Amino acid sequence: MQLFLDSANLSEIREAASWGVLGGVTTNPTLVAREGGDFPRLLAEICRLVHGPVSAEVMGTEAAEMVREARELASVGSQVVIKVPMTSEGLKSVIQLQALGIRSNVTLVFSFNQALLAARAGADYISPFIGRLDDQGADGAALVAEICGFFRSAGLESRIIAASIRNPLHVVQVARAGAHVATVPFAVLRQMFVHPLTDLGIARFQADWNRVPEKKKN
Ligand code: G3P
Repeated sequence: MQLFLDSANLSEIREAASWGVLGGVTTNPTLVAREGGDFPRLLAEICRLVHGPVSAEVMGTEAAEMVREARELASVGSQVVIKVPMTSEGLKSVIQLQALGIRSNVTLVFSFNQALLAARAGADYISPFIGRLDDQGADGAALVAEICGFFRSAGLESRIIAASIRNPLHVVQVARAGAHVATVPFAVLRQMFVHPLTDLGIARFQADWNRVPEKKKN
């Protein structure tokens, strides 16, 4: 399972990229609005920091409008993947984007049937939202398992990005469920480093090393 960063913040992206763990970046309108400024310019800067795919969302509600926005965003670079909402117009735009050689990510997916429709339309990526389902008392990771299990047995090629990840356990759950990608907020990515036994181990090694006489260390 690849790890993407769910962020539009350049310092977060730069830092996560320096850890060598980043397979790509996803953004959404909320994350972009938080950063302010010109979106195509921000997108270009994100693409300079990351080697993998960078998802950028269109805001139109009609397919023609989505495709027009998508062409502008995709002109930033070949890494750009266009996020379209899980609507009939969104799926119409997926087909048109495919004809233009632009990859798509169907977002705001909350059910198996939505994922199946997106796959049949030819979406490159499909993003089920785990945390928002859990917020409703549903089981987000179970949905990812159901989608991934069926897609593998049916030979459907769309890649599943588990999105709306809220904690490190979600990452484990969606990995077990067979997600191709987990897109993770920066805070969760940082939490993934943490284990008290690692901290304790480092402290013990430091203390033991400090007891070695200076001459022996060299
Ligand atoms: O980028 C889409 C998704 O990851 C949003 O997450 O936490 O706003 O539900 P959240």
